Amino acid sequence: MNLLEVGADVPDPLVPYLEVDRSSPRHECWVAGHMVTALDGTAAVGGRVGALSSRPDQALFPRMRQIADVVLVGAETVRREGYGPVRLSDEAQAQRRRSGKPATPPVAVVSRSLNLDGAASVFADAPEHAPTVVVTCAAADLGRRAEVEEFATVIEAGEDRVDPIAAMRALSGRGLGVVLCEGGPTWLGELVAADRLDELLLSISPVMGGDPLPVSVTPAGADMARFDLKGVMAESGTLFLRYEAAVGRSATDERLDR
Ligand SMILES: NC(=O)c1ccc[n+]([C@@H]2O[C@H](COP(=O)([O-])OP(=O)(O)OC[C@H]3O[C@@H](n4cnc5c(N)ncnc54)[C@H](OP(=O)(O)O)[C@@H]3O)[C@@H](O)[C@H]2O)c1
Repeated sequence: MNLLEVGADVPDPLVPYLEVDRSSPRHECWVAGHMVTALDGTAAVGGRVGALSSRPDQALFPRMRQIADVVLVGAETVRREGYGPVRLSDEAQAQRRRSGKPATPPVAVVSRSLNLDGAASVFADAPEHAPTVVVTCAAADLGRRAEVEEFATVIEAGEDRVDPIAAMRALSGRGLGVVLCEGGPTWLGELVAADRLDELLLSISPVMGGDPLPVSVTPAGADMARFDLKGVMAESGTLFLRYEAAVGRSATDERLDR
């Protein structure tokens, strides 16, 4: 056990995240989850995330997308939060261009039902260089799929449901090596269960209450995923934790040893 003492000021909290080397993923691509939670683990208040996000978290959240080749999100979050395309400052866009990336990353929405509105900002306002992608499965309704193809690029990954591994392969195959998953808890849990979460960027806001929805809803029977703590920052009572997937022994190995 160690005391964590308050250290040096961090002039720009994005810098430690920009400095992480994400070029050697464990699998197809590097998947980072970016979530905010309350002290009791809840991920939403009244079906929205807003009340959970403190001022420093709100400031960091949109800027974090600078690290991404694609921002991946479950369809329910898109519907509830009224998602739009990624917007970055001129400086962030210039930095990305200098490193050979498009000015902003596309959003990719995971959906089986394809109950998605082409007039929604995430589709209608997407820039030409980063059209919004929809990741779906073979079982999706073909008529609905044809409609969605009118306003989004559709990727098929999986049969009855989107298979997280097939989805990551498909994104990586398009040159999207850093996937920033912004939830929601259901889709994030699928990635965790498939051992595809390489990094978790978790903000803990100093509040309690809210919906009975944890930050990740892992399907029943999945192994525990293990992570190593890599970074801690704090501002105004909000903790900013950075974890990376523990490399080596699996949770199953640990259980077998007991
Ligand atoms: N605290 C945070 O950081 C945070 C972040 C994001 C969201 N949230 C909150 O979380 C709530 C929404 O999260 P949620 O867990 O209910 O939903 P979600 O994970 O955002 O989306 C679930 C939907 O994604 C699609 N999906 C997920 N896994 C799939 C698979 N394997 N194959 C095919 N489709 C799949 C399905 O879409 P279809 O129904 O279209 O088939 C499913 O209904 C909202 O209250 C939001 O405010 C919190």
